[in-house]
Amino acid sequence: MRRLLVTGGAGFIGANFVHYWLDRHPGDRLVVVDALTYAGNLRSLDSVAERDEFRFVHGDIRDQELIESLLADEGLDTIVHFAAESHVDRSISGPDAFFDINVLGTHSLLKAARTVWLADGAPVAHRFHHVSTDEVYGDLSPDDPAFTETTPYAPNSPYAASKAAADHAVRAYWKTYGLQMTISNCSNNYGPFHYPEKLIPLAIVNLLHGKQIPIYGDGSNVRDWLYVADHCRGIERILERGRVGRTYNIGGECEKTNLELIHELCRLTDEIFEEDTTLKLRFVEAWPSRGDSCRDAVTFVTNRLGHDRRYAIDIARARSELEFAPKVDFEEGLRRTIRWYLDNMEWWKSVMDGSYRNWIDEQYGSR
Ligand code: NAD
Ligand code: DAU
Repeated sequence: MRRLLVTGGAGFIGANFVHYWLDRHPGDRLVVVDALTYAGNLRSLDSVAERDEFRFVHGDIRDQELIESLLADEGLDTIVHFAAESHVDRSISGPDAFFDINVLGTHSLLKAARTVWLADGAPVAHRFHHVSTDEVYGDLSPDDPAFTETTPYAPNSPYAASKAAADHAVRAYWKTYGLQMTISNCSNNYGPFHYPEKLIPLAIVNLLHGKQIPIYGDGSNVRDWLYVADHCRGIERILERGRVGRTYNIGGECEKTNLELIHELCRLTDEIFEEDTTLKLRFVEAWPSRGDSCRDAVTFVTNRLGHDRRYAIDIARARSELEFAPKVDFEEGLRRTIRWYLDNMEWWKSVMDGSYRNWIDEQYGSR
């Protein structure tokens, strides 16, 4: 039985992790702490809100006192740390929050964990799992081998640099103070509850609104895609079988150029609208409802500054030490994702039109 603190549990991957964990580990205590920034959405946790094992705390990882009291009062033994500013484009236009939250916020969390778990003379059994990204390794040329856990760090965006700094801080707390930590560096996730500013949810929502899909540059940049539930399973494996002090790369072994990805998404969306004729009545502005192919929505726009050309992840260590392999193939994962956005219009509309923000401000005061 574990007692977990999940930071950033109202965000995309954090919320998926909460559902994943409570489904598979009923009886474990799970406390979410989340500051509910624009990317955090309490509605993503609606279906678990009333469960006895679950508690939501509106709070900030930089509030060391709050985190210490949660760890101590709840007797928590595991931190799964997702909370972060996570969007590369936002880090380019406004890097401050990224260093503040991702670096200083992680350090604050480390200090709280050290205070409660490594108190003089009374160390408590614990695990600090830090969720990081493949972007810390920089980028690859088309023929380079995939990133391994020993690839030197070479982050290119302020976001990636802030995550790299946090990774180093976590490692230093292990080496110096003996904090029982693990780190995962994962590739691009997709699936339900994804805020519609990242490529896949943005493309789906734009298709349904009859808007264009902006592709940066010529669309030849390559990403490795992983269905989010597979990432959650990877983290579960690390908590259960991972070696303390070790880093694990988690990825989908699914490299696609952005253009390939969007063409596949468009093909599947057209197909789903063909299969389910009620959709044309529910989404009257959508490209297929107007008799157009979704592919017509693609438009090329100015490239992202410092745009990493290619990411690819070697998951050999996770395969051999954790018996991890991605289960959901790309077409199936995309189909599930498109279907989720079709079935959850209220979720994404409320996030985008500000009514969710107003509701949060009423509940918790504006931030
Ligand atoms: P997200 O932006 O969807 O969610 C981040 C969550 O953190 C939000 O709920 C937000 O409210 C919360 N948060 C932000 N600042 C906080 C603070 N100061 N205190 C408490 N909560 C705060 O992010 P995501 O895509 O779910 O990513 C989660 C983690 O996984 C991040 O650390 C990210 O770097 C990492 N990651 C993401 C991907 C991906 O493809 N999305 C891939 C690899 C790693
Ligand atoms: O690799 C893991 C990382 O994946 C995570 O650490 C980040 O938190 C997550 O946001 C993601 O970063 P990316 O920058 O790869 O994701 P994004 O969805 O923003 O972009 C994916 C690719 O699509 C990238 O090459 C940029 C491009 N893109 C993105 C947007 C938003 C477009 O062409 N048009 C767009 O409008």
